[in-house]
Amino acid sequence: MAPDRYAVIGHPISHSRSPFIHRLFAQQCQQYMIYTAIDVTANRLSSWVAKFFATGGRGLNVTVPHKQSLLTMPSRLSERARVAGALNTLLLDPQGQLHGDNTDGIGLVRDLTENLGVTITAHRVLMLGAGGAARGVLAPLLELNPAQLVVVNRTEQRAVDLAAGFSRFGPIRASTYAELGGMHFDLIINATAAGLAGERPPLPPAILTGRDTVCYDMGYADEPTPFVRWAHEHGASRAVMGLGMLVEQAAESFYLWRGMRPSTTTVRNALEVRT
Ligand code: ATR
Repeated sequence: MAPDRYAVIGHPISHSRSPFIHRLFAQQCQQYMIYTAIDVTANRLSSWVAKFFATGGRGLNVTVPHKQSLLTMPSRLSERARVAGALNTLLLDPQGQLHGDNTDGIGLVRDLTENLGVTITAHRVLMLGAGGAARGVLAPLLELNPAQLVVVNRTEQRAVDLAAGFSRFGPIRASTYAELGGMHFDLIINATAAGLAGERPPLPPAILTGRDTVCYDMGYADEPTPFVRWAHEHGASRAVMGLGMLVEQAAESFYLWRGMRPSTTTVRNALEVRT
């Protein structure tokens, strides 16, 4: 019998760590499955996905740049994917219907609260960026009742729109980088795409001075990202990249597909995730 087929699709995709992570999960849970990374461009996205499931594929992870464009394809969409405005997981439900879900938010929250021991409840959180990555994690963060969640973005209007759209989940407001001068935060999360261009968000260094601030970059790279480097240089108590989030969102997708929760500790160790 052939193994159950899973894959992550994106463009580009060659640097994805997801096949490695899911191979370790499958070994650990003794699941007979394969998981590959496949480069799929936007012009053949829907036909590729339809064919994958029509030919027996069991589940997909979806990554940049397709998380938003596939939203309308599944016949069922989870509440968290609908609120996030993006999906990262597809599967066929027992009735054979295509189901879309989003495990990014829970992945971030688990890495922060369970792996890193960061408190969000009653603490002040700053979110850098107002694009799809930020939108995908705002609701689960607000559900933990931070004292305040401030969204800051280079293009101010996007932050204003995002804060308005998520205000029903908790205390969220928009700001500009220029206004951040006198403020302080317990946690700063980088959800911008700046690191991809070797850049970092234009934060005033004083925001970290004399404070016990944790800095978390939702991005990751082989070397510390520009945001993480900046945070270390300016006195952050801790500055971490988002590999732990990657492992946690993968574990939640694995659970949706296989009904088993793998331990993420050994996988984070294998990836040498720093805490
Ligand atoms: P994603 O889905 O990865 O979030 P996106 O929707 O294109 O991608 O959003 C990218 C985010 O990174 C935006 O918030 C963007 O700011 P703008 O809305 O002003 O474009 C932010 N961003 C990208 N490069 C940046 C940089 N060099 N400095 C600060 N913010 C940056």
